[in-house]
Amino acid sequence: MEDLKRLEEFQAKIDKGLKIEPKDWMPEKYRLQLIRMMSQHAHSEIVGMLPEGNWITRAPSLRRKAILLSKVQDEAGHGLYLYSAAETLGIDRKELLNQLHTGKAKYSSIFNYPTLTWADIGAIGWLVDGAAIMNQTMLARGSYGPYSRAMVKICKEESFHNRQGYEIMLSLCNGTPEQKEMAQDSLNRWWWPSISMLGPSDAESVNSDDLMKWKVKLESNDAIRQRFIDRTVPQADFLGLTIPDKDLKFNTETGHYEHGPINWDEFFNVIKGNGPCNKERLQTRVDADRNGQWVREAALAYAKKRKEQEVTA
Ligand code: 3HC
Repeated sequence: MEDLKRLEEFQAKIDKGLKIEPKDWMPEKYRLQLIRMMSQHAHSEIVGMLPEGNWITRAPSLRRKAILLSKVQDEAGHGLYLYSAAETLGIDRKELLNQLHTGKAKYSSIFNYPTLTWADIGAIGWLVDGAAIMNQTMLARGSYGPYSRAMVKICKEESFHNRQGYEIMLSLCNGTPEQKEMAQDSLNRWWWPSISMLGPSDAESVNSDDLMKWKVKLESNDAIRQRFIDRTVPQADFLGLTIPDKDLKFNTETGHYEHGPINWDEFFNVIKGNGPCNKERLQTRVDADRNGQWVREAALAYAKKRKEQEVTA
């Protein structure tokens, strides 16, 4: 009876749009859902550094290099922010990273594709960060306090990421025919993975019912996807690029773009670990963790020594 009453009070708080804070009572399932979602979000941020980091040493100018450096650094910060927010739910970051390194935890499908040309850095900022902003501005209004607050800072930085990506695409499209072709080739390769990264269709989304009941998600996967497509197609038109979807058409009645079928077999195959770069991405993270062990040990030893000195001083 006690738990039933607390569950009703919890849901009433959610329905009123109040935030749930770490010390508040919450159903175990709510806590576990948030740990799943927030940790996978954090994993996505740090794995997402890899495809972009691949071009830091090969950026076409010092300006582009400086911008890309700060973007990749932002993603690291987003990851740390989200791990800290996930730790408020009583799980240790070490455990979360172990789940990533052993393949138990997912990270975003989108980061399992290779960055083959400089235009991919533009396409990632424009499309991937663009899709992420659609999703994250929604999450910023979510019910769990630490997660929604983390989104505020992250969304501000994502907007810069998105603008710099679009600017790269604009420079290429206003450049030589070869540069424009490079931009089109990149759009051809990143378009479909960018719209599927927003999650399976609503019918296949096993977590959405819970997440929407608890206002962690305020819109469904398909609703966010539609908003992303409606916003992005006119941007591609402005660039003079063709969206690689022969079924794409604007429905004047609904005011939305209708699109062709998404290749969900590819999506689920990628999240099962069979994407073009899954193995390489995971191995890089495992190696980085092992090679960085001495830094963590040294930092902890230094902090301990400083504490001992303060006590004896
Ligand atoms: N990649 C990998 N797995 C995915 C996925 C994706 N793009 N989309 C869905 N999945 C998984 C889910 O994790 C779930 O599996 P699980 O139950 O084993 O965890 C399964 O597919 C079914 O999907 P659901 O729709 O039921 O899952 P959700 O309700 O959690 O919705 C989501 C998926 C929309 C990605 C949601 O988890 C979410 O909004 N997460 C927070 C945002 C996030 O993680 N974004 C990742 C990109 S981060 C990024 O882009 C960084 C930027 O700086 C570039």
